[in-house]
Amino acid sequence: MRRFLNYCAIPVVAMFGVYFSFAASTVNAGDVKKIYKDTCELCHGADGKGSEAGKQFGVPDFSNPDYQKSRTDAQMKESMTNGTKNPNYVKLSDLGVDIADLDALVTVVRGFGGK
Ligand code: HEC
Repeated sequence: MRRFLNYCAIPVVAMFGVYFSFAASTVNAGDVKKIYKDTCELCHGADGKGSEAGKQFGVPDFSNPDYQKSRTDAQMKESMTNGTKNPNYVKLSDLGVDIADLDALVTVVRGFGGK
């Protein structure tokens, strides 16, 4: 039982974090929301659509359902870990983001796409 609880804790916390970020702006998914705000918003915008600077770099619109459908979680993680063909894209390790936060960050990114 104890092991089961430990195993479930991370995804449950991540899901609630995304839920609360829409219900109210409570920071709850560990520090992931904060990481997004501090590190990602600069290019991806608070709403995931992309900031002015981000658009010039060529960021995708995370709120676009077609974009969300076009990428699997694995593809997103691959881009975040190793970078992409786009020379403006900075892989997350170069932004000082812990690779351990990758799954939770994908959940945040998915959250912008609605359902
Ligand atoms: C310096 C600007 C910049 C910052 C900061 C930034 N990104 Fe991006 N991001 C980009 C660009 C540009 C692309 C588009 C890359 C491409 O299309 O090849 C992108 C694409 C992505 C994608 C989509 C990858 C795919 O395969 O479709 C994800 C997911 C992503 N970023 C997550 C993040 C997260 C999470 C953070 C914060 C930890 C972050 N980004 C910070 C510029 C940035």
